[in-house]
Amino acid sequence: MLAIGLMSGTSRDGIDAALIETDGEGVVTPVAFHAMAYDDGFRVRLAESCSRAMDMDAPGFEPLIASVEAELTALHVEAVADLLGRSGYGAQDVGVIGFHGHTVAHRPDRGWTWQIGDGAALAGAFGITVVGDLRSADVAAGGQGAPLMPVYHRALAAELDKPAAILNLGGVANVTAIGADGELVAFDTGMASGLIDNWMQAHGGATYDAGGATAALGRVDEARLAAMMADPWFAVPPPKSIDREAFTIEAVQGLSVEDGAATLTAFSAQAIARGIGHLAERPACIHVAGGGRHNATLMAMIAARTGVEVRAVDGLGWDGDALEAQGFAYMAVRRLAGLAISFPGTTGVAEAMTGGVVFRP
Ligand SMILES: Nc1ncnc2c1ncn2[C@@H]1O[C@H](COP(=O)(O)OP(=O)(O)O)[C@@H](O)[C@H]1O
Ligand SMILES: [Mg+2]
Repeated sequence: MLAIGLMSGTSRDGIDAALIETDGEGVVTPVAFHAMAYDDGFRVRLAESCSRAMDMDAPGFEPLIASVEAELTALHVEAVADLLGRSGYGAQDVGVIGFHGHTVAHRPDRGWTWQIGDGAALAGAFGITVVGDLRSADVAAGGQGAPLMPVYHRALAAELDKPAAILNLGGVANVTAIGADGELVAFDTGMASGLIDNWMQAHGGATYDAGGATAALGRVDEARLAAMMADPWFAVPPPKSIDREAFTIEAVQGLSVEDGAATLTAFSAQAIARGIGHLAERPACIHVAGGGRHNATLMAMIAARTGVEVRAVDGLGWDGDALEAQGFAYMAVRRLAGLAISFPGTTGVAEAMTGGVVFRP
């Protein structure tokens, strides 16, 4: 089946749209990819929606969030139209769209996770079946609702030597470990680019630290780093997940732009090292996907602090920018086939289960 996957990640940089052909099991062929950046105004409205949602007791109507959701859905319609235009395929050729939406708050501790995005409207716009709300069923069943990528990592990693580790560096960082028998262990390790982006936007006059150049000029404030790492969350064994807003840049306030960037970059790397330490088997290599792999300072700090070789997944022939969007296309196909997308080792749910709400056009 041809399937589209749409991801608006926690870094709030934009929409990733991927078209793949897959059976929802071992066969995956990437067909096309398109990344659409958000403008600064929308990025700010999205950030404000996230902080409002974090303060709410449960998902529900909130005027700003509702209007941002409508805007977000319209932008996804645009992204799908652009993706199809590039691919040479038409809407009638596509079997399903996996629509992640945007996480405005992730509170498995309170029994809910909230992704905005109107699946019914998207299905209506193209006449394509949409699978949305992919995390809620897992959380309702007692899981963390995240990470969901491991099932897709496992499909891609069939040929890799095991044990293998795949690290996704988005706003948040998550690792997937695949054991010799194909068993999955996956969890969020902490922040990846989220706080670095916040810092650069607040003090660096940039949306992110391109190439890690600012952090490369700074010095890590080890005392502040140690204070951040003292958070008890890091000692919790996996599976576990974290909200992008769980940590703030307050911890490095007062440092120079360079030292703040270096310290926050080290915070992400050190958290990854703690995470790798939770694994039963030490991986021989960490294969890295997501936008954070373009940050050379972060990549070097991960290698230094884990003591494990670190490589971008692109060397395996995978597209590290498209991987997450492809994964949601793959999960949508699995949802239609009734196949599991979350597992005890990945989200902590009691039994492997499928997830996602189906919106028929
Ligand atoms: N050239 C680059 N140098 C450093 N960081 C980058 C670069 N390109 C992207 N990034 C980082 O990657 C982030 C986006 O990664 P992405 O995988 O899309 O995350 P998410 O899934 O959370 O949206 C950006 O916010 C930025 O921090
Ligand atoms: Mg992104």
